[in-house]
Amino acid sequence: MKSLLKKIDYNNLPNHVAVIMDGNGRWAEKRGKLRTFGHKESIKSVMDTINGFKELEIPYITLYVFSSENWNRPKEEVKELILLFHKNLKSSLKEVHEKNIKIIVIGKIENFSQVIQEELIFFMKKTKNNTSGTLILALSYSAREEILRATKNISKKVLDGSLSLNNINYTSFQKHLYTKNLPDVDLIIRTSGEQRISNFLLWQSAYAELYFTKILWPDFRKKDFFEAIIDYQKRKRRFGNVE
Ligand code: IPE
Ligand code: IPE
Ligand code: MG
Repeated sequence: MKSLLKKIDYNNLPNHVAVIMDGNGRWAEKRGKLRTFGHKESIKSVMDTINGFKELEIPYITLYVFSSENWNRPKEEVKELILLFHKNLKSSLKEVHEKNIKIIVIGKIENFSQVIQEELIFFMKKTKNNTSGTLILALSYSAREEILRATKNISKKVLDGSLSLNNINYTSFQKHLYTKNLPDVDLIIRTSGEQRISNFLLWQSAYAELYFTKILWPDFRKKDFFEAIIDYQKRKRRFGNVE
């Protein structure tokens, strides 16, 4: 671990890392277990990744916890997932708070039960003045839905005269997304070998670097997070310009 840390350039850290935590089901099936077993194990990976994020003092991390499309999975799996989420929510978020990390939730949280919503709101309020980085949880999240929602809200403002057509630009549009006030994503990490975005942060990752690893999420640890950062630091980001 020490030799890995030595390879990290602290002057070239990403400002915002986003993680598509994928492969829980396959991890469990490989062991002859139910998919839920993989979801259970994934909590350790989440906590270790958060530790790595904090250790490097990266300002923002977004975790893709549950997509809008995930509601379409077999009823039993959805039920188990939500149950597991609910069971571990309080203790996990408490741990995050103890690390002085601020918590923000993006997505359609109204799709969750009242108790879950209240707990999320409680921790967003409780952690709002924390200063060791921001953890953004994408819950019941769909990037397309987010963009449509922003478009509708902007349209309403144009119709009622509080916003003029000329004032619709990148900055004002961004203010209508769930991620208002958050910076663009610099690095997307996806585990499990799949190489796709799956409706995640489409607007925010316009110029993000993509990092894919075959490691299944329940096996992902802090050292793997560091490897992704080291790889990111080898990239030449041009933003359409020339070097
Ligand atoms: C990621 O693992 C967790 C969620 C999407 C909730 P999966 O459940 O997608 O696991 P695989 O991709 O089927 O292995
Ligand atoms: C993306 O993983 C969503 C989360 C990690 C929460 P999925 O497993 O749902 O995505 P697909 O189906 O492989 O695109
Ligand atoms: Mg998957």
